[in-house]
Amino acid sequence: MTTLKKLLATSAFTLVAAAGTAQAASLTLYCSAQEDWCQLVANTFEETSGIEVNMTRKSSGETFAQIKAESSNPRGDIWWGGTGDPHLQAAEEDLTMKYMSPMRDQLHPWAISQAESSGNRTIGIYSGALGYGYNTDLLKAAGLKAPTCWADLLDPSFDGHVQMANPNSSGTAYTTLATIVQLFGEDKGFEFMAGLHANINQYTKSGSAPIKAAARGESTVGIVFMHDAVKQAVAGFPITVVAPCEGTGYEIGSMSIIDGARNEDSAKAFYDWALTTEAQNLALEVNAFQVPSNKSSNTSPAAPNMDDIKLIDYNFTLYGSSAERRRLLSKWDEDISTLAQ
Ligand code: G6P
Repeated sequence: MTTLKKLLATSAFTLVAAAGTAQAASLTLYCSAQEDWCQLVANTFEETSGIEVNMTRKSSGETFAQIKAESSNPRGDIWWGGTGDPHLQAAEEDLTMKYMSPMRDQLHPWAISQAESSGNRTIGIYSGALGYGYNTDLLKAAGLKAPTCWADLLDPSFDGHVQMANPNSSGTAYTTLATIVQLFGEDKGFEFMAGLHANINQYTKSGSAPIKAAARGESTVGIVFMHDAVKQAVAGFPITVVAPCEGTGYEIGSMSIIDGARNEDSAKAFYDWALTTEAQNLALEVNAFQVPSNKSSNTSPAAPNMDDIKLIDYNFTLYGSSAERRRLLSKWDEDISTLAQ
């Protein structure tokens, strides 16, 4: 019996099926992973379960803000994907619901530790390391030295060549800020962010936009998760992927059920399904090269090998806490985003 068939026999699915006889079950899905992956996951779940899915893609910080703004009258049912820090903040602020999935014992320890540190209000669905990618043609044309470290991006020759997202809207960019602070300490980390600011051509809303711009030849360097850069390289664009020499942070992409969800049974059915190998293997159809959280899901040979990357011991408890995330973001707003370029 496949995992999916077993799940169809579990209570969440049965309840939804029963509800479906009276009125078609539905699910409002807030998605913070790549748009094409969000679409595929929404469509496949709809076909598999018969539950109608309304999906919107927004960046991690934006989705957190939306769920918070809607908390007195929740409109979303489940939040799938996006970096773990804002999911942890949502858990701490009681914006998401406790849930123990029957699928839990199939997951890697890092996915479960994300659940445990949130009082079981969120869970890991994928992980991926931060880094950057650059367009080799543009780099050569501008006569720039190939960067290999974070520090290389501060060189004045990179003025106007670097793009990253805004850490308020994007989980990728918040992971960048928190990584730099953990690598260099707060004072030196903010000096780094100020130096980087001088070379930034644009802060985008979405985390992966900077590497799409580099792929199209609109910007040289994009600070993104390494798997987002690999996706562009695999698509045939002249993108080189860098794991910075000083070391780097990583994300535990997460999933949470929204507290007060109108379609709680549909949300639980989606949650259990999203942890199956069948659902997680969809990632490879859209070149989403994260490491999946189910131990039996497939990982592409093109995916960055986490064992070869110098990873920091990213402190999710601290940087996913409400007070710290708020404090770092307002410090970035006040001290960095206002600086002249
Ligand atoms: C991309 C990455 C995901 C990450 C997400 C965060 O889609 O592939 O691994 O979780 O960005 O998006 P954001 O727009 O919040 O940075």
